[in-house]
Amino acid sequence: MIARLTVIVAPLGSRAFAALFEEKVLNGAAVGPIQTPDGLMMIDFLHEYVGLTGSRLGCGQRVCHACVLILDKADGSSEEVRSCTTGAHFFDGKKVRTIEGHAKRNEQGEVVELSAVQRKFLEHFSFQCGYCTPGFVNAATVLIERLKREPIAKESVEREITKALDNHICRCTGYVRYYEAVRDIVLNTPGLVKESV
Ligand code: FES
Ligand code: FES
Repeated sequence: MIARLTVIVAPLGSRAFAALFEEKVLNGAAVGPIQTPDGLMMIDFLHEYVGLTGSRLGCGQRVCHACVLILDKADGSSEEVRSCTTGAHFFDGKKVRTIEGHAKRNEQGEVVELSAVQRKFLEHFSFQCGYCTPGFVNAATVLIERLKREPIAKESVEREITKALDNHICRCTGYVRYYEAVRDIVLNTPGLVKESV
């Protein structure tokens, strides 16, 4: 059963406010209606209106991919969307996951179990400052979910990991260990890689 969070935010100053949002589903919880300014980007909506501050604003120009979210599509597939330049209204009526939605939580909202990707990033010491990590977690998760639906040949593993992570910039330059962690998951999770013919 989907929990519901209803927030109506009063207008601030002279900023133009759009009509109430349609409902959207964030990390499994229905959110809305929420009144916000026209042109509000999704990352600002998350940070300022619903208290989900884990998504990172890096370049703000669609380059670094620190800000990506996961959009869950009706056909069961998932894809990354950059929240720095995608308006919050784009997500009306859609299902979205943020970095806060990966780990399992208890009834008090405390994290009780990390996702497989989060665990592997810790085991491989993949990140340093961690600023880019939410984006890498989302990118790796989308890749793993795609491989569950469409397993790949072993020879394609490196290429597919590179394709999935290549757009993500880590200013601490810790790329190697992110790649190691994702390779570890892909090669050791049953069903993601087909036997060669
Ligand atoms: S902050 Fe969105 S792509 Fe850099
Ligand atoms: S760990 Fe610091 S930016 Fe990637």
